[in-house]
Amino acid sequence: MASPHKTAAEPETCGPRCSAYIAGTGFEVPDKVLTNADLQKLVDTSDEWIVERTGMKERRVVSDGQAASDLALAAARKALADSDTQASDIDLIIVGTVTGDMLFPSTSCVLQNKLGAARAAAMDVGAGCSGFIYALSTARQFIETGTYRNILVVGVEVLSKITDWTDRGTCVLLGDGAGAAVVKPTTDRNRGIIASLLGADGSRGPDLCMPAGGSRIPASVDSVVQRLHFLKMNGNAIFKVAVRNMAQTVSRLLNTARVRAEDVKLIIPHQANLRIIEAVAKLLRFPMERVFVNIQKYANTSSATTIIALDEARAAGLIRAGDLIVLVAFGAGLTWGGVLLRW
Ligand code: UT7
Repeated sequence: MASPHKTAAEPETCGPRCSAYIAGTGFEVPDKVLTNADLQKLVDTSDEWIVERTGMKERRVVSDGQAASDLALAAARKALADSDTQASDIDLIIVGTVTGDMLFPSTSCVLQNKLGAARAAAMDVGAGCSGFIYALSTARQFIETGTYRNILVVGVEVLSKITDWTDRGTCVLLGDGAGAAVVKPTTDRNRGIIASLLGADGSRGPDLCMPAGGSRIPASVDSVVQRLHFLKMNGNAIFKVAVRNMAQTVSRLLNTARVRAEDVKLIIPHQANLRIIEAVAKLLRFPMERVFVNIQKYANTSSATTIIALDEARAAGLIRAGDLIVLVAFGAGLTWGGVLLRW
C-alpha cells in the first residue's frame, strides 16, 4: 500500500472514523552535562556500578534559574515547527510533569503564556514517569471526539531540583529534559493512535514520592531539615513492578489491536534502568535491536523520556511512515501506560 501520509486528509471536523496522530515532535535538554565521574565526587559511587546497574553514563541538569517551563517552551517550539503549526492555532496544552515551575498556576498555563497560545485551554497531568503517556492518551480523546484539532502534549521534568544529592540510591538515576508533540486528527486509516492503555495502583504511592510541599506536610523548617522535599524511592520494590507492568501493558495493547509483536517496528520504553528495559524485552520475547535506548545520555527524565526518545528515534531514521510503534512507561503513583500507534 502506498504511503498516503504526505497528503493525509485533515478533516474540518472529526467524526467517529477519525484518529489522532502525532504531527510533529521536538525535545530540549539543558546544556550542562553531569557524568558518572562528576557524581563520584558527590556520593560514594562509581562509574562501574552506575553503568552496570543502570546503563547510565551521563545526564543533563539545568542551571540556576532554569525551570520546567523554560525547557518545555524550547521543546514545544520545535514540535510546532516540525508540524507546521502556529502557536495561535493550539486548542489545548497538556503538560505531564511532577516538577512544574510551581504548584500553581499549572506549568501548562505558564507555557501557554510564553508561547502566545492565547486560544489554548491548559492543564497539567501528574502521573510521574507515565506523564507523557497519560497526556497523549488524554489528547487522543479530545481529538477523537472532535472537540479539538491541535493539541500540544509535553512531558517535562526538572528532577535535579528535587534530587537529594547526598542519596546515592537516587541521585545517580535522574536527569532534566523536555519533549513535546503536536497531536492532530486524520481520516487516514493507516495512521495514528490505534490503542492506548492506562493503569494505576495508588496503594504503592509511598514507594516513589516527594513527601513534603503539599497539603499533607506543608513546607516548614522541620520539613526542610528532615529532607522531605526530595524524591524518595524504594528502588528494589519498584523494579519488579515496573518490569511486570510494562510487559503486561505492551501485551495487552497488542492483543487489543490484534497486532503481532513481530509487526512492531520499535518499542520506545520509559528510560528508568537498562536492566528494566532488557527484562521487559525478555518477557515479551522482543529483540533488543528493536527497543530504543538513550538512557546512557540522559538517564531518567521521568515524564520526558518517551517523547525525547521518540524524537531521537525519528531523527536517527528509525521510524518511517506506516511503522507500528509502542510507547510504554511506568512511574510514581504508581502509574503505568502505553500507546500503540502507526506512524
Ligand atoms: O522511573 C520510574 C521509577 N524508578 C525506577 O523504576 C527505578 C527502579 N529501580 C532501579 O532501577 C534499581 O532498583 C536501582 C538502580 C535503584 C538500584 O539497583 P539495585 O540493583 O536494585 O541495587 P540495590 O538497591 O539492591 O542495592 C545494591 C547495593 C546496595 O549495597 P549493599 O546493601 O548490597 O551493600 C546499595 O547500597 O548497591 C548499593 N548502591 C550503590 N552503590 C554504588 C545503591 N546505589 C548505589 C550507587 N553506587 N549509586
